[in-house]
Amino acid sequence: METFLLDYDAGKAAGRYLDQALPSLAFADNQFELCLCSHLLFLYSEQRSLEFHIASIYELLRVAAEVRIFPLIKLNGQPSPYVESVINSLPRQWFSIQIEAVAYEFQKGGNQMLKISRRATPEQIASRSAT
Ligand SMILES: C[S@@+](CC[C@H](N)C(=O)[O-])C[C@H]1O[C@@H](n2cnc3c(N)ncnc32)[C@H](O)[C@@H]1O
Repeated sequence: METFLLDYDAGKAAGRYLDQALPSLAFADNQFELCLCSHLLFLYSEQRSLEFHIASIYELLRVAAEVRIFPLIKLNGQPSPYVESVINSLPRQWFSIQIEAVAYEFQKGGNQMLKISRRATPEQIASRSAT
């Protein structure tokens, strides 16, 4: 958070902070090495559907080969019911998936992230998903 706040004015002036809205991003396939999604997916499980979560995660995995999502709990501190469903929706031939503990704990009990690495290209995933 401190790193972000220190960078924000300069980063905004340099055009590094861009408005985009999941589940559709105006970025190219593989434009980034890493997507970090903080306090949006899973946190708002009561407000956003499972379909929104899955579509958003596929979109993040289109623009980057690795996606990290934090935390895995809802606003009320309870575990998100979507974590297991999201994991089950990601074919293992395309993605490797881990849940890791992290040192940052903004909400009590919210110290885990979902780490997903893409093994296939976005084109392979898009073409096989369409069939
Ligand atoms: C609780 S804030 C978290 C902000 C920051 N990521 C953090 O961890 O401190 C949730 C953020 O999600 C953004 N947001 C809401 N709907 C979104 C969507 N469909 N796509 C991308 N961001 C969205 C909101 O604008 C807000 O900045």
